[in-house]
Amino acid sequence: MQVRVRSLVRPLALGVALGLALAAAPAAAQDTLRLASPDGRNTVAVTVHQGGLYYAVQRDGQHVLLPSRLGFAFRGADSLLAGLRITGSARGSKDETWTQPWGEVARVRDHHNELRVDVAEDRAPGRRFAVVFRAFDDGVGFRYELGDGFGAFVMDEELTEFALADNARAWWIPGNRPEPDRQEILYSQSPVSRLDTVHTPLTLQMSNGTQVVIHEANLVDYAGMYLARTRDRTLRSTLARWSDGVAVRGTAPFVTPWRTIQLADRVEDLAPSLLTLKLNPPSRIQDTGWIRPMKYNGVWWGMHINVETWGQGPKHGATTANAKRYLDFAAANGLGGTLVEGWNTGWDQDWFNTMKANFSFTESYPDFDLPAVAAYARSKGLTLIGHHETATMIDPYERQLDSAMALYERVGVTAVKTGYVGDKTEHGHAHQSQFMVRHHRRVIETAARRGIVVNVHEPIKDTGERRTWPNILSREGARGMEYNAWGGEGGNPPEHETILFFTRMLAGPMDFTPGIFDILIQRPTGTPRRPEEARPRTTLAKQLALYVVLYSPLQMAADLPENYEGQPAFQFIRDVAVDWDTTVVIDGRIGDHVIVARKQKGADAWFLGAITDEEARTFDVPLGFLPAGRRYVAEIYADGPGADWRDNPLPVSIRQQAVDAGTTLRIEMAPGGGQAIRIRPAE
Ligand code: NOJ
Ligand code: CA
Repeated sequence: MQVRVRSLVRPLALGVALGLALAAAPAAAQDTLRLASPDGRNTVAVTVHQGGLYYAVQRDGQHVLLPSRLGFAFRGADSLLAGLRITGSARGSKDETWTQPWGEVARVRDHHNELRVDVAEDRAPGRRFAVVFRAFDDGVGFRYELGDGFGAFVMDEELTEFALADNARAWWIPGNRPEPDRQEILYSQSPVSRLDTVHTPLTLQMSNGTQVVIHEANLVDYAGMYLARTRDRTLRSTLARWSDGVAVRGTAPFVTPWRTIQLADRVEDLAPSLLTLKLNPPSRIQDTGWIRPMKYNGVWWGMHINVETWGQGPKHGATTANAKRYLDFAAANGLGGTLVEGWNTGWDQDWFNTMKANFSFTESYPDFDLPAVAAYARSKGLTLIGHHETATMIDPYERQLDSAMALYERVGVTAVKTGYVGDKTEHGHAHQSQFMVRHHRRVIETAARRGIVVNVHEPIKDTGERRTWPNILSREGARGMEYNAWGGEGGNPPEHETILFFTRMLAGPMDFTPGIFDILIQRPTGTPRRPEEARPRTTLAKQLALYVVLYSPLQMAADLPENYEGQPAFQFIRDVAVDWDTTVVIDGRIGDHVIVARKQKGADAWFLGAITDEEARTFDVPLGFLPAGRRYVAEIYADGPGADWRDNPLPVSIRQQAVDAGTTLRIEMAPGGGQAIRIRPAE
């Protein structure tokens, strides 16, 4: 079907074809393919205009995306951008609900309508492809399926546009700059018209109140997508590259990841974001019973604040004795495991600055007895959490991958943290390049075969692979707690986590590593760090609230064990759940505050976390999410008298209050503060 649009100029006339004035253009309407979400609110229109393929997205009849072009640029072949013709279409729909083995909700419903648009190139080489659109009540996804005529291809760029209908406010981190090629950057906000190149998820707020998140799902054998502004309000995909500048190498038939446009009326409705799960295949792991969320501690913060070292010497953290001390603490406090970094050889040289790291992933330092520590952990019902820092030296890691995972399996280590400090691989491939996407998948699958869960730092972005491989439990992928030990800008600003919740966290779980109690970092020197030096820019109560706000099935009690001794507030970390039946975002504003309640998986208990930025804030929170007619006790950990992140971060007041579904709690937060609440049955 060839689309004829009588038009004067783009994009106005094309807008007519794609629904701006549908009633007035019946002829054009015939030629435009349309798709609506089950609730009818989100719609997609697809058409060909002067040989180019376009899609547009509306919500409640108002444009979110104006006609946006689809296509690719290839090396050694013409771009796939013009001379296109729609040759057919097919429709389908689905309504399916499944249970996730772990998550911020237990049940996920995939209810969507699908439109498949078949497209052919009019001229030689006559390539054929399809674009498959799915419309959900919470957004839209689409992907390309490359078919006949592509053969083995070398893609220079994907040219998918996102032409925003409004100069929406964007919350972003820069992407695809030579340095750093990662995600550990503070967020900024600006109108779309001011963006350069940014990471996804990209959160946008339109002037009519619609909330939009552009991201991707099911990134398996492709390059990670950034968004680059090409015109006033138009963003275009730009892909991470191999060292030779190529974006993607493939052989047709070939499917791309899904491009996702999450839509919501209120910012609170963006989380939990489940769109990417719906666009990933079901679990490849049949029996997921061995995959268990947990809290953990680790020989970790000590290195970041210079009390201990990764490498050998008098301050070596990963000694058998020190690991056992951490394990004892974990066992005594109901944690599930202990991470030990610096256990393996290769940390002695200046690995961080030279990136010449030469890690062994099977050879321990002489003062660390891996089998003995792992056995000690198991004797206490815990796991030692292994560590593989690659420094983004991928070949040496891949050479050792099988034997490294086999070693962990043999000694009974069921979790590993991996790390990719460094901007590019030793070959010069970008951090989110197709090469690295393949690498990460290989690691996840290798670990799964050995019964090992994975927690990736400096990862590729999360695109929902936890549905297919539930052993990828968590990852970093933003500035976490470590920046409060040594980061620039004095650490993460007080607003940081209130932004993360509505940006990075929409991709999936984050191993933020909360729970620093020695907020002034007095321990190494005996003198508190000055306000301009790096340290957590929060109150202690906010550290507790982060366990509820920043979702991860792996939550670290990140501070040194001795810093928790004699601290009544540590009881909250002992109690807090890491797996949830439901999540309710009660209130939030990006960069200002978040209040979220989550119901513990399989238990009659709720946890509430509230955090604020540098402003003191007070909220009245009705507990209407509790089941009616039941009596509960709220155990409240609030900012104490005079608390302030700047000069008095430690006071926490702990009290109990009888509550039920009719109660309204007053939540008062100090500057940089927060509140953490456990709600358990009164009986
Ligand atoms: C960076 C990670 O984010 C951190 O957690 C880890 O301790 C270091 N790399 C060393 O691997
Ligand atoms: Ca990191």
